[in-house]
Amino acid sequence: MDNLREEIRKKYAGAVSSGSCCCGSGECCSTGSDPITSDIYTEEELSKIPEKARAKSFGCGSPTRKAGIKKGERILDLGCGTGLDAFLAALETGPQGKVWGLDMTDEMLEEARANRKAWGLENVSFIKGYLEDIPLPDGTVDVVISNCVINLSPEKEKVFREIYRVLSPGGRMAVADMVFIRAVPEEVKKSLCAWAGCVAGALPEAEYVTMLEEAGFSDISIKRERVIYFQEEELKSLFPDLSPEVARYISGSLASAFVFARKNVGL
Ligand SMILES: C[S@@+](CC[C@H](N)C(=O)[O-])C[C@H]1O[C@@H](n2cnc3c(N)ncnc32)[C@H](O)[C@@H]1O
Repeated sequence: MDNLREEIRKKYAGAVSSGSCCCGSGECCSTGSDPITSDIYTEEELSKIPEKARAKSFGCGSPTRKAGIKKGERILDLGCGTGLDAFLAALETGPQGKVWGLDMTDEMLEEARANRKAWGLENVSFIKGYLEDIPLPDGTVDVVISNCVINLSPEKEKVFREIYRVLSPGGRMAVADMVFIRAVPEEVKKSLCAWAGCVAGALPEAEYVTMLEEAGFSDISIKRERVIYFQEEELKSLFPDLSPEVARYISGSLASAFVFARKNVGL
């Protein structure tokens, strides 16, 4: 697939503008309405965020809940979408801290900035950029969070190198992502809808660990949160470019997971 990143950007621009699905038709990809994005935040988390700022969520977990953010830390949210996790992180780090939300899709950033302005939060800003080329200096971030985004990159080695570069010594990566827990047919990995739907680009757990080790990380853990099952109708609406026989393999082959890794102190 040529220029996959651009194709994924267009899908997310369309999804956030229309409030609908990344592929096909149907009400997927909006908070609480498909097997990946539904029920990922607690009522307590959601109650802290103004309604408009939590209306669009495309994630698969709640990285902030597990990142152990301390007051004053500097946080980077990779692929921030309309800002929900960046806002949760901003509340955790408080006024002495700082959060950057990074995304490549203008339509996402526009909504994130409008949400921030309407709320008046001072310690968060949204920047345009790519996971593979983060526009921040070396060693300037204490915690990298991300919600269901790393799987979307076709260049994950670059992403992990970039995360390592921007983290301060002892800094940590605490992300929600999708992982494969069993093999799927090769057709799935060639489907644009499966890429945009956070399926095709997921790494098998062991490969995820190896890639993080190769980037220099230690203290690595991957904890499965929930195995994702799709109904026949959901498969049809989410992956219209796959035959029903192939799409069926997706159900039960993936899990959402919390991935943690640390940059060594003194490096
Ligand atoms: C599945 S959505 C998740 C959005 C947000 N984290 C959330 O939980 O609602 C993926 C987001 O990552 C962004 N994205 C995907 N690939 C990217 C890349 N290579 N560089 C920067 N942003 C990317 C998309 O624009 C989109 O906003």
